[in-house]
Amino acid sequence: MQIFGVDIGGSGIKGAPVDLDRGDLTQERHKVLTPHPATPDTVADGVKEVVDHFGWTGPVGLTFPGVVTGGATVRTAANVDKSWVDTDARALFGDRLGGLPVTVVNDADAAGVAEMHFGAGRGRRGTVVLLTFGTGIGSAVFVDGVLVPNTELGHLELNGREAEKRASSKAKDDHGLSWERWARRVGKYLAHVEMLFSPELFIVGGGVSRKSEKFLPLIEDIKAEIVPAQLQNNAGIVGAAMHAVEHG
Ligand code: BGC
Repeated sequence: MQIFGVDIGGSGIKGAPVDLDRGDLTQERHKVLTPHPATPDTVADGVKEVVDHFGWTGPVGLTFPGVVTGGATVRTAANVDKSWVDTDARALFGDRLGGLPVTVVNDADAAGVAEMHFGAGRGRRGTVVLLTFGTGIGSAVFVDGVLVPNTELGHLELNGREAEKRASSKAKDDHGLSWERWARRVGKYLAHVEMLFSPELFIVGGGVSRKSEKFLPLIEDIKAEIVPAQLQNNAGIVGAAMHAVEHG
């Protein structure tokens, strides 16, 4: 079975048809830059361009980088335009895509669902926390494989500021942090999340997970196992498509 997955991120809107049996893309993904400002209208245009690139006419699952309830309604917009708050994103994208069936899910939750089925979390019981380090920090918490949606752990406080302002990969770039300094911040953040949830496993995702050898070995004093995400930057696309099957 194939569903189209779209991952809306702070820097790019990426999509491809997904083979749900293999948990993989059937064609090379297409990417457009996230417009600035990233309003509902401009982002919907970007999504349409990505879907039209493949001439796709079936169901579409999308991620969104904020809280999404009921597969439809955006509740927060930390790294995109504030006019998203309370938007019915399912109706917006469905209309723009000419009436195709659409569902929307938080980006980290989508990545987590994909990793739990096809990647680093396969078969793992107990508490698993996936964290994505990108423009912000996204989180997905699983208990015995079941997702607790919209956990938003990137907004926990770390040294008096939101954790994602200190320890996202954008923060690393913005502040010109070395791998060592950034890893120290990530380590402090993981220690805080560990104190709250005592997970068995942390899965570290987001674009930076491709360079995990540069920072994971520098992280100390965490009891949980820490592994890089395996689907890396395609996890959001695959998870969006999986969500569309379950909630479409
Ligand atoms: C948002 C989350 C999102 C994360 C990663 C945060 O700022 O609040 O909903 O998952 O960024 O995009």
